[in-house]
Amino acid sequence: MMNRDSTTKLLDDIDAYVEGLFAPPDEVLEAALRESRRAGLPEINVSPNEGRLLQLFAELVGARRVLEIGTLGGYSAIHFARALPEDGTLISLEINERHAEVARANVERDGLSEKVEVRVGDARELLAALVENEEGPFDLIFIDADKESYPEYLEWSLRLSRPGSLILADNTIRGGSVLDPQDGSARATREFNERVARDSRLSGIVLPLIRERIDGITIARVL
Ligand code: SAH
Ligand code: DHB
Ligand code: MG
Repeated sequence: MMNRDSTTKLLDDIDAYVEGLFAPPDEVLEAALRESRRAGLPEINVSPNEGRLLQLFAELVGARRVLEIGTLGGYSAIHFARALPEDGTLISLEINERHAEVARANVERDGLSEKVEVRVGDARELLAALVENEEGPFDLIFIDADKESYPEYLEWSLRLSRPGSLILADNTIRGGSVLDPQDGSARATREFNERVARDSRLSGIVLPLIRERIDGITIARVL
C-alpha cells in the first residue's frame, strides 16, 4: 500500500507528465497568469491540463456560442476562445470589474478580443438578462463562479441551452469535501451534482481531476 504522501507525489507526477505532452509552454497563457498575479487576483484558474480539456470539449461539440460564468483573469476564456470559429462568440460573466479588466487585456494579447465579451455584474442578474433578451441557446456553458449558486446556475444554464448543449462545472469534487460537506459551498456543490445525476433532461458524469488537490469537473449533455 502506498501512503498518502507518495500517492500525492504520484498524482502530481502524472499531472506533470500529461502537461508535458499536451500543454506545452505558451507565452500568451503564461502572460495571462503573470498579469493576473501582478494584479493581485486569486490564483484559482483552471490548471493547464483542465484548460486543454475545456478547449477539447468546445472543439468536440463544434461550439460557436460559449457562455462562461466566472471569468477571473481570462485563463479559461482564452482556451474557449481558441476553440471558436472565426465568427464564434464567448460571453463570460464576472462580478468583479477589476478581474474583468485584467481578463480583457489577457484576451487581447492573443488577438481574441473580437470573439470574447466580458460582462460585469452578478451572474444571476446577467443570466436573467440573457434569458430575457433571448441570447441563447449556447452550445457550451461553463460554470465556475461562486459555488453556493451552482444549483441556481444549473437552472439558468438549462434555460439557455438546447438539446445537445454541453454544461460543464468546475470544482465539483473539491478535495473530496462533497463526500461529507462541512460548509455551504460544499453542500451546494453536492446538491449540484445530485441534481445533474437525477435530472431527466441531462445525461452526465463527474470526472475527477488532479490539481493542487483532487478536484473534479461535472460534464452534462442536454437531452
Ligand atoms: N474560470 C476562471 C476562474 C474563475 S474563478 C479560470 O479558470 O480562469 C471565479 C470567478 O467568479 C471570480 O473571478 C469571481 O470574482 C467570480 N464570481 C464570484 N461570484 C460571482 C457572481 N455572483 N457573479 C459573477 N461572477 C462571480
Ligand atoms: C476556488 C474557486 C475555483 O473556481 C477554483 O477553481 C479553485 C478554488 C475557491 O474559491 O477557492
Ligand atoms: Mg474553478
